[in-house]
Amino acid sequence: DWTMEKFVDKEIERIRAMVGPKGQVIGAVSGGVDSTVAAKLMKEAIGDRFHAVLVDNGVLRLDEAKTVKKTLTEHLGINLTVIDSTDLFLGRLKGVSDPERKRKIIGNTFIEVFQDTAKSIAEAAKDSPKAGEIEFLLQGTLYPDVIESISFKGPSATIKTHHNVGGLLENMHLKLIEPLRELFKDEVRALGTNLGIPEELVWRHPFPGPGLAIRIIGEINEEQLRIAREADKIFIDEIVAAGLYRKISQAFAAVFPDTAKAVGVMGDKRVHGKVVTLRAVETTDFMTADWYPFEFDFLKRVSRRIVNEVDGACRVTYDITSKPPGTIEME
Ligand code: XMP
Repeated sequence: DWTMEKFVDKEIERIRAMVGPKGQVIGAVSGGVDSTVAAKLMKEAIGDRFHAVLVDNGVLRLDEAKTVKKTLTEHLGINLTVIDSTDLFLGRLKGVSDPERKRKIIGNTFIEVFQDTAKSIAEAAKDSPKAGEIEFLLQGTLYPDVIESISFKGPSATIKTHHNVGGLLENMHLKLIEPLRELFKDEVRALGTNLGIPEELVWRHPFPGPGLAIRIIGEINEEQLRIAREADKIFIDEIVAAGLYRKISQAFAAVFPDTAKAVGVMGDKRVHGKVVTLRAVETTDFMTADWYPFEFDFLKRVSRRIVNEVDGACRVTYDITSKPPGTIEME
């Protein structure tokens, strides 16, 4: 009979046997539940011979890289390297408005940065007397991803672009290690709780690899990013304060393009500002989703706060489109 404790013990044994007494493992983390649980399991199994890498791609949410770093290093004791590649990513995204091109640029740049980082960590690790070479790449693949990649090469092949590590495996002669490949999401959450990962991280909404780039419709610039970040923070804080975070599957603020400004009144002047749109959905499988029926008072409060507190935002709308026909993300 299957229990979480037995699973943890068995998996730790399996990882140790696979990696050996000196082998080293590298893996990317995002601050999401899957990569964090996989990283924590590696930490338990082989300690600092697991190297986690967080790439700041410039399209993360407010203080996200800082917060993830704090949780992973201070709280979970994971050996983490944070790479700030904001300028590189934003430089390549400049003037790009097509969502699929944004996804490709972010995915490819991610692989490039991760590969460079992996190489320098591998170089440094060679000199350590206690450890051998980096031989493995950690992936937080879940059971549904395994099934999907076997049976279905549809849109998910694009969705998972940034997880495409084939090149890395070949160029660096790495072997794949996937400790979560037999688990469903709810089991990963239970495992996370069992491993002492903080509740708010275990229940964190999913966040797409291309980040805020697909929540800013059209071209991305610093001001759009700031507005998306500040509005998102207010919306999520209010959702948490209202006790709705777990009931809602995914929520965020998005920003309309720079070319689609709206008019507002500030004091006695007419101003042109940005349109922020809020999205919150309930879903179990993310294939279909319903928009969340907030109380009017909640929407009033969030709208008032965003317009008052976020410089340059002059309208707030709430997206009442279900999936299908809409998608969860705006792009
Ligand atoms: P859609 O917008 O397709 O989203 O209804 C379904 C789920 O997938 C996430 N999503 C992505 N995740 N890279 C990712 O890593 C992507 O390009 C991407 N596009 C959508 C979305 O956040 C939602 O959870």
